[in-house]
Amino acid sequence: MQIVMIGSGYVGLVSGTCFAEFGHNVVCIDSNAAVIENLQAGIIPIFEPGLDTLVTRNISAGRLRFSTDTASAVAVANAVFIAVGTPSRRGDGHADLTHVYAAAREIAAAAPDDCVIVDKSTVPVGTAREVEAICREVAPHKQLSVASNPEFLREGSAIEDFMRPDRVICGVDDPKAESVLRAIYRPLSLRETPLVFTDRETAEVIKYAANAFLAIKISFINEISDLCEAVGANVQDVAKGIGLDKRIGSKFLHPGPGYGGSCFPKDTLALLQTARSNGVPLKIVTAATEVNNTRKGEMVERVIRLCGGSVAGKKIAVLGVTFKPNTDDMREAPSLMMIPAWQAAGAQISAFDPQGRGHADQYFSQVNWANDPYEAIVGADAAVLLTEWNELRALDLAKVKAQLKSPLFIDLRNVYPPEDMRSAGLQYHSIGRPY
Ligand code: UGA
Repeated sequence: MQIVMIGSGYVGLVSGTCFAEFGHNVVCIDSNAAVIENLQAGIIPIFEPGLDTLVTRNISAGRLRFSTDTASAVAVANAVFIAVGTPSRRGDGHADLTHVYAAAREIAAAAPDDCVIVDKSTVPVGTAREVEAICREVAPHKQLSVASNPEFLREGSAIEDFMRPDRVICGVDDPKAESVLRAIYRPLSLRETPLVFTDRETAEVIKYAANAFLAIKISFINEISDLCEAVGANVQDVAKGIGLDKRIGSKFLHPGPGYGGSCFPKDTLALLQTARSNGVPLKIVTAATEVNNTRKGEMVERVIRLCGGSVAGKKIAVLGVTFKPNTDDMREAPSLMMIPAWQAAGAQISAFDPQGRGHADQYFSQVNWANDPYEAIVGADAAVLLTEWNELRALDLAKVKAQLKSPLFIDLRNVYPPEDMRSAGLQYHSIGRPY
């Protein structure tokens, strides 16, 4: 199969590289010439474990190319995937489809007659139909098919998620699109991955419903953790106790400072907009987003309270600033709201993050960046663990105690057993667990 990926961001780059790994010939396109030049030289613009090796291997094998020239690549393609950004539109939270529609026009003009155009970007219900209308307008004489194939990979484990997904969702409206997508995903069906074929609207709803459901699970366990604190119960055991029920499942029941990232906040907002414009309120999703929005402020207040009611003139050491481990992505990271809030309350901030630092200077001011966690906590009045990087999961607790000015360790990801922290002489506070 000749595959073109329009957009070489997270989804486009990972999906394109993995399709090449399946054995297909792939060209990844991006309008940013600098990104393409770097990729041609094997320089990856994002931090994603394992991606660099896979890119280099497939470039060498001649199966993966990078280009800014959409028309030439599309002209010989069996399938063209649209994987461009769909940011929240300023003002109303609707997904901004400008890039998707522009890509559709360009593809329709250059594609061969029987090409299949596939939406991979997260797009609102009805987008595949819109893309099809654009194709009919731009190239009325061509038999172009339009399909929807949403992506479910997570940052930090994107390769594994793509290569071993729980399922692949394909929304199609004609047999040609179905047979091309079946051929593209054949290596996965050999591994017995369910390929679910639906109509296009259903595929589009599945993507948003999946992300909204996961966001609901997180907000739910965050609220339950508040209840656990109030009644002296342990949220870790509650999560385990309910998660062993297969109807509930154990995943995405880890309490924390609220979900961030480029997907859950944006996609829940876009889903609510779609629902509202169709007269459906989706009250549960609304509640999950409200819980998440207030969560970060509550965590800011909690740290101030644990610091004795004021952080003015105190030093807070923040451990981990990215929205989750194994990524350098800062989008909607809780730290973006929390660090400035502590600074506004008079605190000095020192911080350590294995990846976030490179980008973080553009997001934060007046933060002292440390080269390791111990350097960050030297002389601090409190250490706050915000992102559960592996580098922060097995700290030398005696050293932590020795470096801190006051032995206050606030763990907003429940990484440590409270007994270990207490035996190390630390004043340990976590989420939803008796101290
Ligand atoms: C999410 C979905 O998990 C993917 O399936 C989906 O493809 C992707 O969005 C997308 O739509 O592109 P991602 O945003 O990379 O993936 O990261 P997650 O691992 O889902 O984490 C999102 C946020 O939820 C993080 O801030 C994380 O710390 C938080 N989280 C996650 C919790 O607070 N508790 C949990 O139990 C799980």
